[in-house]
Amino acid sequence: MAILIDNIGELTTNDPELGTRHDAAVVLDGERIAWAGASGAAPDADERLDVGGRAVLPGWVDSHTHLVFAGDRTVEFAARMAGKPYTAGGIATTVEATRAASDEALAANLRRHVAEAERQGTTFLETKTGYGLSVVDELRSARIAAEVVDEVTFLGAHLVPPGVDAESYVDLVCGEMLDAVAEHVRWVDVFCEEGAFDEAQSERVLRAAVKRGLGVRVHGNQLGPGPGVRLAVRAGAASVDHCTYLTDDDVAALAGSGTVATLLPACDLSTRQPLAPARRLLDAGAVVALATNANPGSSYTTSMAFCVATAVLQMRMTVEEAVWAATAGGAAALRRDDVGFIRPGGRADLQVLDAPSVTHLAYRPGVPLTWAVFRRGVHRM
Ligand code: NIG
Repeated sequence: MAILIDNIGELTTNDPELGTRHDAAVVLDGERIAWAGASGAAPDADERLDVGGRAVLPGWVDSHTHLVFAGDRTVEFAARMAGKPYTAGGIATTVEATRAASDEALAANLRRHVAEAERQGTTFLETKTGYGLSVVDELRSARIAAEVVDEVTFLGAHLVPPGVDAESYVDLVCGEMLDAVAEHVRWVDVFCEEGAFDEAQSERVLRAAVKRGLGVRVHGNQLGPGPGVRLAVRAGAASVDHCTYLTDDDVAALAGSGTVATLLPACDLSTRQPLAPARRLLDAGAVVALATNANPGSSYTTSMAFCVATAVLQMRMTVEEAVWAATAGGAAALRRDDVGFIRPGGRADLQVLDAPSVTHLAYRPGVPLTWAVFRRGVHRM
């Protein structure tokens, strides 16, 4: 069935040829976008939705979340707001709760957060394992994630479980654990950071993944300067995520690479770190994505709109740059060309704002502006 979305006040397509248009229309045919262009020139459709001059843009592509978890870390958050620093060690709290939860509870929690994200305009979402940290628990996290979300990343190398020898744990991740999860995941990630995995250990994980034909990504330079970015670029990673502490060499390496710098402003705020240097990256020519990093420890939000507003208000990205980074940028970080754009042939994922332009995302921060969401051509809200 074809649906005509008509009377669009401002249409952001991210497509270089279609550009940003006014008085526009889009036709969805089943799960795909069939047409986009001037209102009045649209082909016939079975149904017409008049959006009354509102802004339409691609659905958010959230390329970095950790949503297979159980439990809550309010106490840790409150302690942090009282001055205690964030450390990777908090992950162990969630590992304990996740291991103790049933499959049904984990799946329900994941679905609840995905639905929450969708109500705020997210139509494509990646999530990671990483709160299991044993073969059995990582496997079930991967299996549950694959049933619910669009893209799954194996993050067995999130933390060395307490009481386990680091080198033997890396052996396990690169061997038995990777073998167990491989059929459910497209990506392998490693937390390359002090208190998690060092450069040599991280490199072992990435090599094992590449050997198996899986794509790689890296958590890097989150809590201090380090080798994560350079390692990611060297390994040909699709993205390096966080990028909070970057040297000029890191920025130059990213700018000359095919690795996307995924910035996670909600995490920087929630962990009281400086905001990632978006302007330096963009001015150097690096490709930047924005994502929520939704997880119960360092960034408990599913709101891409919050990330966009923060990027504009505090990281000096333009609204257009921030919207691109949260849509097409996320798609680039996941090496997808079927989402993040509104153009014929792409997935029929889009959102309508209760506002005349995307500028309102930053102009009216904190206001829930999502008016309608289409995911795979289905009108979700
Ligand atoms: O991306 N950096 C590592 N992993 C998550 C944090 C997870 C947690 O604290 O539970 C992150 O911030």
